[in-house]
Amino acid sequence: MRHLDPARLASAAVRQRQNTAAAVTGLKALVSETPAGEVERHVEEHILITGGAGFIGTHLCAALLRRGARVTAVDSLVAGRLAALDGLQQHHRFMLIEHDITEPLDWTEPVTGVMHLASPIGPAHVRNHPVRTLLAGSNGTINALEIARRYRARIVLASSAEVYGDPAVQPQSESYWGNVDPTGAMSGYAEAKRFLEAMAAAYRREYSVNTGIIRPFNVYGPGMLPGDRRVVAAFVEAALAGDELVVQGDGVRSLCYVDDFVTGLIAMLDSDAPGPINLGAADGTSIADLAELVVHTVGSGNVTRVAAQHAEGTTRCPDITMAGTVLGWAPVTSLPDGIRATVKAMRNPEPPAARATVDFDIPTAWLALISGSPQLRCQAATVGGALKWLTDTHPVLAPRLLSPGYELVPWTNIFLGDTNVRDLDGLDTPLTDAITLTVLPAMAGG
Ligand SMILES: NC(=O)c1ccc[n+]([C@@H]2O[C@H](COP(=O)([O-])OP(=O)(O)OC[C@H]3O[C@@H](n4cnc5c(N)ncnc54)[C@H](O)[C@@H]3O)[C@@H](O)[C@H]2O)c1
Repeated sequence: MRHLDPARLASAAVRQRQNTAAAVTGLKALVSETPAGEVERHVEEHILITGGAGFIGTHLCAALLRRGARVTAVDSLVAGRLAALDGLQQHHRFMLIEHDITEPLDWTEPVTGVMHLASPIGPAHVRNHPVRTLLAGSNGTINALEIARRYRARIVLASSAEVYGDPAVQPQSESYWGNVDPTGAMSGYAEAKRFLEAMAAAYRREYSVNTGIIRPFNVYGPGMLPGDRRVVAAFVEAALAGDELVVQGDGVRSLCYVDDFVTGLIAMLDSDAPGPINLGAADGTSIADLAELVVHTVGSGNVTRVAAQHAEGTTRCPDITMAGTVLGWAPVTSLPDGIRATVKAMRNPEPPAARATVDFDIPTAWLALISGSPQLRCQAATVGGALKWLTDTHPVLAPRLLSPGYELVPWTNIFLGDTNVRDLDGLDTPLTDAITLTVLPAMAGG
């Protein structure tokens, strides 16, 4: 067992806190693209993003980090975990809070902006979980609006083109009120989004909250979760596997590349426009043409046509005049370019972030508390991941830890559990090399 000097421990705790703040690694590519001046300009910006671990959310987090903002993503991870999240978690201005936003969030840090993206989406999630979907649009929206209200922050809320339902007019401008079935299989999603819009407008009228509603049409690009059956991801997956691409009916979709979409989201954040504003590609693409383009780009797969079921035959195309006038926004990526980038990303998915081997060194006096080897070991991408593993597998050990340089890590005087992990400082410190952390008795140091 090592000898521990309490005075050394106390100063080491301060030093470690400073080191942690300076440990800026990961996502270097993302940040280095940004001109230095821009990073300085937005240095005080702090954006909370519900659904920040999702497809659009991870791109948005990366874009906001690039311009120098602090970003807190609040996500239940119900849709799964994207590889991009591991990269984001290595950024010192990024924090992930695992939380279901249908429950109020105990949040006390000022934010300058809120982006409410959390929602189940895609037929696989919405048809199987209509209640969860409605709760995300109702309770989730109210909880996000309350955070914006508390900090007088701008809030942008992601609605959907589904609010137009099966539209009787083409293209849809924001003044069209839609044609929605309130009780159909996908109604949970459309009605959740209609409630989101109504509540955002109500908070603006009654509480003067600076709300902005955007209506995305179909967004696609690298980083879509496989298996959620959204049309572009489903087609690319099928083509890569050499399978059939099944075209149901003769529907037309507005397909917007994710980078263009995120530019529009940020333009909305930077404005005071109330919306709703359509964000999408003005030119519609038939599902059949999309399938042919995917097969051509991938070089494998076959297109099969069948009669439409559910709403797959619906044609929706936005009038994006308002986005141009109010936000100065229009998509710039061509569909072939966007599909090429998507296919490339899905063909070569990002390797998982490097994980370090973490050894936990147990002082002799504590060995009796655990069975087996005194050397506990796990693999983890962050300190938080390692500590969580320790407390999950050996709850009897108090996580008071020393680094190999006998530095007391500052979060160690807090008991770790599922609910308070997010309060801890330095947990997102990336671990790329093997490291040993010594577990201390509960009464020592800290
Ligand atoms: N991608 C599109 O084509 C599209 C089109 C129209 C609207 N939208 C809207 O944009 C937003 C983002 O879409 P996306 O494509 O990134 O979807 P996504 O499923 O990839 O991301 C949504 C994220 O929200 C999280 N989430 C769901 N319910 C939650 C809850 N109760 N609490 C906390 N987190 C929760 C999920 O875990 C997921 O990470 C959604 O609101 C969606 O309705 C997207």
